[in-house]
Amino acid sequence: MILSIYGYGQPVLKKMADDIDKDYPELGALIENMYETMYNASGVGLAAPQIGKSIRLFVVDTVQMMEEGKEAEGIKKAFINAQIVELNGDEVPYEEGCLSIPDIRGDVDRPEIVRIKYLDEDFKEHDDIFTGVNARVIQHEYDHIDGVLFVEKLKPLKRQLIKRKLESIKKGKVRAEYKMKFVGKGR
Ligand code: NI
Repeated sequence: MILSIYGYGQPVLKKMADDIDKDYPELGALIENMYETMYNASGVGLAAPQIGKSIRLFVVDTVQMMEEGKEAEGIKKAFINAQIVELNGDEVPYEEGCLSIPDIRGDVDRPEIVRIKYLDEDFKEHDDIFTGVNARVIQHEYDHIDGVLFVEKLKPLKRQLIKRKLESIKKGKVRAEYKMKFVGKGR
């Protein structure tokens, strides 16, 4: 089932999300719906706050970003109750976008290497190191479960330039190719 994606301005996007336990109702279906919603919007990651749930869950699929023959370097994974343990390497810029903030893209500096602890969909514990594009997407989605948006990490000048556009998006004055829910306007 394709879910509505909550747009910039929705309070849930600014909340620190909560851990969940094994008894979380219909978690399997939720994860499946999040993948479906992400693919429908041509995304490479989606965090639960973006579909209105303030829980520490996000899905990532970077396999689709990899060049032909290098698909194995990508990951397709659900991260539950994730905690970043360590960030390493140089901070590098990379142009990001976000399904909750259509039409805005911008360079964000992030460390190249992330070590992260998380549970998979079977609640099995993992402690893994990711690099490159995987580390990039994971850090972006991880920010979502901490209530942080990439636009807050843009350079001051760029932030100034997008200020008015963000105000319009907040009011739902933006076109997206997928279903969204804004504070003042559902559709
Ligand atoms: Ni995002």
